[in-house]
Amino acid sequence: MSEPQTTTPWWRDAVVYQVYIRSFRDGDGDGDGDIAGLRSRLAYLADLNVDAIWINPWYPSPMADGGYDVADYRDISPMFGTMDEAEALITEAHGAGLRVLLDIVPNHTSDQHAWFQDALAAGPGSPDRDRYIFRPGTGTDGDAPPNDWRSVFGGEAWTRVTEADGSPGEWYLHLFAPEQPDLNWDDPRTRKEFEDILRFWFDRGADGFRIDVAHSLIKQEDLPDLGDRFGLLPSIDHPHWDRDEVHEVYRGWRKVADSYDPPRVFVAEAWLDDPVRMARYVRPDELHTTFNFVFLEAPWRADAMRSAVTRSLAEVGGVGAPIVWVLSNHDVARHVSRFARDQRNVAGFNLDAIMDLPADLELGLRRARAAVLLMLALPGSVYLYQGEELGLPEVEDLPEVRLTDPTWRRSGNTVRGRDGCRVPLPWSGDAPPFGFSTDAAATPWLPQPAGWHERTVETLDGDPASILNLYRSALRLRRELPALGDGTLTWLDADADVLAFARAPGFACVVNFGASPVPVPVDGRVLLRSDREAIDAPLQPDTAVWLRTSA
Ligand code: GLC
Repeated sequence: MSEPQTTTPWWRDAVVYQVYIRSFRDGDGDGDGDIAGLRSRLAYLADLNVDAIWINPWYPSPMADGGYDVADYRDISPMFGTMDEAEALITEAHGAGLRVLLDIVPNHTSDQHAWFQDALAAGPGSPDRDRYIFRPGTGTDGDAPPNDWRSVFGGEAWTRVTEADGSPGEWYLHLFAPEQPDLNWDDPRTRKEFEDILRFWFDRGADGFRIDVAHSLIKQEDLPDLGDRFGLLPSIDHPHWDRDEVHEVYRGWRKVADSYDPPRVFVAEAWLDDPVRMARYVRPDELHTTFNFVFLEAPWRADAMRSAVTRSLAEVGGVGAPIVWVLSNHDVARHVSRFARDQRNVAGFNLDAIMDLPADLELGLRRARAAVLLMLALPGSVYLYQGEELGLPEVEDLPEVRLTDPTWRRSGNTVRGRDGCRVPLPWSGDAPPFGFSTDAAATPWLPQPAGWHERTVETLDGDPASILNLYRSALRLRRELPALGDGTLTWLDADADVLAFARAPGFACVVNFGASPVPVPVDGRVLLRSDREAIDAPLQPDTAVWLRTSA
């Protein structure tokens, strides 16, 4: 793919569209999205004016955790297609001007991966077992786990195996589901294998990788008890999150990426609540970018958003890396539904944290429209999650029998988890599957709400003021305006409930988080506004505007 004539590397200001492939589009009529479906909609993505796509795991997998349980890193799941189709997709995406990022899962494999099956067969003390983290149990007869670590999905982080002779055996570590055994990253074979996997896909044209739970690979050698330190977000000196030694792994990966022309890139998924720790992943010889979850977690309030932006710019910008802004992904409740709740005491970003609070989805949609103008005006790169351009809400009432997230089962059917943001996209028509499948009689793998005929691409396409057309206009302007993308911002004076900032040359973004309309506090010509009001109307509550200024 030809490089545009610019000194800024593409990834510093890229807009990347996340394709949750099982739910994007079904090209063979079986109710599961697939590569054929994605290929049939590349023109839609190019027309949206995004620069790249990130595809969630598409490898062979028993799907114990939506494909994050990888059985073979060098092949394609039959659910999604074939290797030939994957290569054709990459070529066609490049032809449409879209780069392609894949998803690599280095912390754990599937329990069906050949390495784990060999480890089980080989027995205690064997080199095959040493690829994972096996330990004898504690307590009487080793029937208690080696330590008190807990799985992110609920329950213990250890499962005991039965040895080949039928006796109760060792325990293995899984920070996620039991079907996802953690790899031993102290073993040089693991390091070599993953560098080879990177090369395998780079050789097939992949432009980069999103790195799954990038901060979890290294465990403290003596596996000490956690005590009261359990929690998804790490504290300093945590025995299994964000350990210093992980950075050495990524220095090696960077060398692999830099050995290609053009160089390949990485984005880390590391849930760190501290921008100082986040910045360590994107030092010049490590990864290129890391998701800024501090922004995703911020409630829709001027003070919280301003603080998230300022802290991130200071720390991540401080090491010379661009920030990656993101509002939603396949692990959190869709932001229309989060912003539909009272933002004064936000308890979390997952469905289970918000579902009991009253929701005003019209308000959520209004805020989502403003939020994307805010996000796209910030300095750096942006990831969009499929369906946010349609203003899709979280599906909060999926029938319990249809839930697939491992948290549901492991919590004793109390935590519903993440299925509600993974419902297949509505493309057209009046009834499910809303054009998701090539076969109108297909049953999508998760049921779509009947009301989604109002949110199909087809419906929104025909409304010039729809959220879809707002995304298209904003993304087009973001490409055209030299002020947007990589760079810096300057905060402008405004009321406490208003955020206003300038980007050079000649651009300002203003967002009203308050309850009353305000005059736009900046001189300039309005280019785009998030609501449907006249272009020069006062700034309504939960509205954003973009202006061309003379400054
Ligand atoms: C990441 C993925 C999530 C998955 C987990 C375990 O957080 O985004 O979907 O469940 O890692 O691989």
